[in-house]
Amino acid sequence: MIAPSILSADFARLAEEVTAVQGKRGADWLHVDVMDAHFVPNLTLGLPVVRSLLAATGIPVDCHLMIENPDRWAIGYAEAGSYNVTVHVEAAEDPVMLAKNLRAAGAKAGLAIKPGTPLEPYLDVLKHYDTLLVMSVEPGFGGQKFIADVLGKVRRARTLVDAGHLNLVVEIDGGINADTIEQAAEAGVDCFVAGSAVYAAADPAQAVEGLRRQVEA
Ligand code: DX5
Ligand code: ZN
Repeated sequence: MIAPSILSADFARLAEEVTAVQGKRGADWLHVDVMDAHFVPNLTLGLPVVRSLLAATGIPVDCHLMIENPDRWAIGYAEAGSYNVTVHVEAAEDPVMLAKNLRAAGAKAGLAIKPGTPLEPYLDVLKHYDTLLVMSVEPGFGGQKFIADVLGKVRRARTLVDAGHLNLVVEIDGGINADTIEQAAEAGVDCFVAGSAVYAAADPAQAVEGLRRQVEA
């Protein structure tokens, strides 16, 4: 799956930018980066904008919450109709309860881990989740360089999923482009987030197609 991140889109033309990746075999998920200027040193958008996006598109919306206190705020994004809501393990107080609440509100539950956060301590927690988001840059900004070291965590998660120990979509986020997507695919990623590689391209739909061709080949 390819999930364009609207972080690199023109925020004054969001509806058009979403349509631009819709195409025939366009975006599988629309990745929406919510930042609160506390968990990360950047501020983007919140629930009102997500509600408008949900009304404007049929693409399943994948909210990536880079915020403090997701235990309190994440549920609203699920109740609004997001397909998947991802919270950071570094920020969540009770990630198991949080996953249960997200699922009860009708969303898939996602757990994100920063590049420096190990996977091993959270394997039991991940039994309650539908998505594992492995960050391949420090969260906060688009257009950063891919950190290949995180592929070890992707491989480990892939092995556990394939052995039936976990049931997760393995998603990667940060620095994914034509040069990096194949190594991520080889490591076992199911869903590729791409911000600048899609929205800095002259034709975003074609950029999505190009990335898809590389991982389907
Ligand atoms: C960064 C965000 C990413 C960002 C990726 O904190 O979580 O989703 O949009 O942008 P690129 O693909 O440009 O690295
Ligand atoms: Zn993201």
